[in-house]
Amino acid sequence: MKILVSQDYQSLSQKACGFIEEEVNRNPASVLGLATGSTPLQTYHEMAEGHKTRAVDYHNISTINLDEYVGLGESDPQSYHFFMKEHLFDKVNINQARTYIPNGLADDLEEECSRYEQLIDQIGPPDLQILGIGQNGHIGFNEPRTSFKSETHIIKLAESTRKANARFFKSLEDVPKSAITMGIQSILKSKKILLLASGENKAEAIRSLLEDPPSDDVPASALCFHKNVTLLVDKEAYKKVEYLRGDELNHD
Ligand code: F6R
Repeated sequence: MKILVSQDYQSLSQKACGFIEEEVNRNPASVLGLATGSTPLQTYHEMAEGHKTRAVDYHNISTINLDEYVGLGESDPQSYHFFMKEHLFDKVNINQARTYIPNGLADDLEEECSRYEQLIDQIGPPDLQILGIGQNGHIGFNEPRTSFKSETHIIKLAESTRKANARFFKSLEDVPKSAITMGIQSILKSKKILLLASGENKAEAIRSLLEDPPSDDVPASALCFHKNVTLLVDKEAYKKVEYLRGDELNHD
């Protein structure tokens, strides 16, 4: 795993945007794997700026999102469909017919999981997958003790995840109890992975990822088995890491 430590969230987001722009400029028909949540917000903002000011062209890309809450449709402001439109899809010249997010309103959720996994294989796998990390080490919504072999599935959200995400809802009761998520194996199919972590509340998850042996207690540790992962982390999220990894480490 390559590790790039940034001063702060702004610098991390600019770097993440740089990775994405480089990928899209090199291959205009790139498939991007996308995440939601607070962490990639500034990256998406930088991408929108890059589209306006650097003429980065997203017209031919496809996108595959990691997850969606069960029970929320695209017109629901808390859904990840809504989030993606608001923060990225409506801000760049992406062809929205080529943006894919699991359907949290599907009548048959198991069938939706199979459909989505097939889609990942048909459209993807992503050339570049963007990931955030939960305070409990989850990636996508793969909560601790999800099998590293999992494909797209329904997950019961950990109470700590529901509490962490309650900030986006009116109350904790409104946070859905389950989600559809790409599995860990689905994520590992990606050709390149960019893991973003910012802020002190991610410091323990990052320490554990880098210092503890891989284990399903920390789903992100499955990334140790992938050959092309870059961790973009800011100083706050990196501050509990004591074990330095020599030339894998870069500060700005
Ligand atoms: C979002 C996702 C989650 C988040 C994680 C961190 O699509 O899959 O794994 O990346 O919960 O969320 P934030 O960035 O809000 O701290």
